[in-house]
Parts: sequence; structure tokens; C-alpha cells
Amino acid sequence: MTTTFSLKYMLQPAAVDICIGHGILAGTLITQCKKIGYRVALMADDTVAALHGAQVLAVLLKNEIPAELLTFPAGEKSKNRDTKAALEDQLFAKKYGRDTLLIGLGGGVTTDLVGFLASSFCRGVPFLLLPTSLLAMVDASLGGKTGLNVPAGKNLVGSLYHPRGVYMELDFLKSLPAKELQNGLVEMIKHGIVLDASYFAALETQALAHVLDMPQLILQSCQIKQVVVQEDEFEQGKRRLLNFGHTIGHALEAASGYTLSHGDAVALGMIGELELALAEGYAPAAVLPRLKKLYALLGIDPKISFKTTPKQLYELMQLDKKSLDQTPRFVMLTQIGHAEPFAGVFCRPVEQAVLFNVLERMCVCYAS
Ligand SMILES: NC(=O)c1ccc[n+]([C@@H]2O[C@H](COP(=O)([O-])OP(=O)(O)OC[C@H]3O[C@@H](n4cnc5c(N)ncnc54)[C@H](O)[C@@H]3O)[C@@H](O)[C@H]2O)c1
Repeated sequence: MTTTFSLKYMLQPAAVDICIGHGILAGTLITQCKKIGYRVALMADDTVAALHGAQVLAVLLKNEIPAELLTFPAGEKSKNRDTKAALEDQLFAKKYGRDTLLIGLGGGVTTDLVGFLASSFCRGVPFLLLPTSLLAMVDASLGGKTGLNVPAGKNLVGSLYHPRGVYMELDFLKSLPAKELQNGLVEMIKHGIVLDASYFAALETQALAHVLDMPQLILQSCQIKQVVVQEDEFEQGKRRLLNFGHTIGHALEAASGYTLSHGDAVALGMIGELELALAEGYAPAAVLPRLKKLYALLGIDPKISFKTTPKQLYELMQLDKKSLDQTPRFVMLTQIGHAEPFAGVFCRPVEQAVLFNVLERMCVCYAS
């Protein structure tokens, strides 16, 4: 299966190429590089560089595209200002200028980091993404959000800046550790639970076989996200639904010092935010057991193995982008595939006591 389509965004005058399939590197990626015609800086974390860097570099060089590979240490801890500055300095030392094409090869850390770097390097250069993790394919590489973590919280510095193309080589997933695969599955579950009941049901029945044998499930997940992003590129309304589970999830990630994986954090966040919707009378009781059953089927078993308190989590949530007057706001699920629109705002605050109750319970029930 190879699927190619292009997307138009307000923020990106050129169409964004999306290509998903096996053996796609020598195709549309090369056409796009040649169309842009700039010298390439290929960027990857050291794990992905060791596994796939040489192959991608060889494809570029074989097609007479001048390119070099720049690397940085793998992991969420690299998604910071220091890594960005170090990469920028390397680019300047190698005399890269405005005629630079950046290519981010890797998971969501790389796609966020390289995207942000591209948006500010020489006041903005074009970039392409080659996502290598499931999470980066179905989520991080789509929608134009770039960013870094800072001591105050996750993704608090960044930009909205679209790549010219996203090339999802499904063969990359063969080297992805099972835990990382789960992180992607969590975002696929999120797409279903908040936006598409039939997709959620497909995950319940098909994903068990093995998601890697189900390229259709990966493609559909991308399409669910892409439709919402095109409807609300600047996240003033419906795009907030994609943030389901992330208000609590990001707070947990930050509280863990980023030792908790993004997938586990969002998996816990979805449980917590569903409990809020239950407590506020929006979601029916049957939804939470279905979510937990799907986690169990897919081996998703998130734990809170670090010390935190509802107060600490609340303070971290005050920095969430949906917060208004430092009050966190939450997506309220009404059933699988649907959330309350709240006159187009798609989120609302809850009483602090209700929120603290849910957080307290989570800290106890999911402690390891
Ligand atoms: N911009 C967005 O819209 C958006 C959306 C969701 C998540 N994100 C961000 O994405 C990040 C998480 O993404 P992630 O889980 O991909 O993290 P990651 O980039 O750190 O990748 C996870 C690990 O898998 C390794 N890896 C990646 N691809 C591999 C492969 N094919 N084979 C073997 N190892 C491989 C990486 O080296 C890393 O160690 C978070 O920072 C999150 O905030 C961004």
C-alpha cells in the first residue's frame, strides 16, 4: 500500500505532500528535494541515525542531492533549547544559510525540534519530515506544531510551521521497540475515542492482530487528525479535541521529569479526563471500561512511579495552552467519538475539588 495526497494550509502557501507506504524513500521525497533544490541537513537522534541514517543519506546522495547527517542524543531530554542551539551552531559552522533544506528523521522529539529549528533558522527555511516512530507518523509530524520543552513545562516554546512534505516509510517501524509502538497506539486510540467511534471499534477488533500489519489503521489515524487540523489550523476550537488526555498527561510528564513516556502520560490523562467528564455528567459510565479494556488488550499499562501531588499537577496544568486566567480547561467526552462542543470552544473548566479528587484517585490507583 502506498498512499499519497497533498494538504493545503493557510500557513503554508505550498501544498504539503503526505506519502505513506513501503519503499517510498526514492520516490516523492527525492522529487520534493529536487524541487526545492537546496543543500540538505538531515537531522536525527543518535539511535535513529545509527539504524536508518546511512540508508536515507545514501538515497539522497545517490540522487545527487548534497546532504550531511547531524545528530543529537536520543530522548525527550534533548527536546530543549540547548539541543536546538547546538544544531544551529553546527549548521552555521558548516556554512549552511538561507538555502538550506532541513530533513527531520525520527520520532516526535525530532519532528518537533527540527520543525522549530526550521521555523527560526535564518528566519525560516523549508523542511521535510521522515517520521520513524508510530507516534510521529500518526500525530507529531502532522499539523504544523513544533516546539521545545522548557523548565516551566512541555512544548511551551514553539511555532506553527508546516513541513513541505511528510514521508512515512512504514519499514522504519520494524526497528521500533514495542514500548514505542504502544506510545503511538495511545494517540491512535485518542483519535478514535474523541473523534471517530467506528475507528475506535476498528482498533478494538483489528489492532490486536498487530498494527504493523494494518497500514490502513495508520492511514485512517492520520486522516482523522488531518481533517480536524484543516478545519481549525490555529487551534481556536475543534482542534482542541486532539488535546484530549494531554492536559493531565503533559502535567504528569513534567512532574516525572520526563521519565514517564508521552504515551503512558496520555493514556493516564485520557482516563483522568474521562473521569472528569463522568463526574460532571457528560460521559456515560460505559465508556471508561471500554477504554481500559482496549488498553489491556494492547498491553498498555501505565503507572505513576514518581512522587507527585494533585497540587503539583494542578500548577503544571495552569500552564496548559487551553487554560484561561490560569484555570485549566478540559475536553468533555459525551460518548465514544464525540465531545461537547461548548459553543465552539470544545473545553471548559471544572471545580477544583472535583479535579483534585480525580487526580488524588489516579495517584493512588496507578502508583507502582
Ligand atoms: N507536534 C505535535 O503535534 C506532537 C504530537 C504528539 C506528540 N508530539 C511530541 O512527540 C514526542 C514523542 O514522540 P516519540 O514517542 O516518537 O519520541 P522520540 O522521538 O523520543 O522517539 C522515541 C524513541 O524511539 C526511538 N526511535 C524512533 N524511531 C525509531 C525506529 N524506527 N526504530 C528504533 N527506535 C526508534 C528514538 O530514538 C527514541 O529513543 C513528544 O515530545 C511529544 O510532545 C508532538
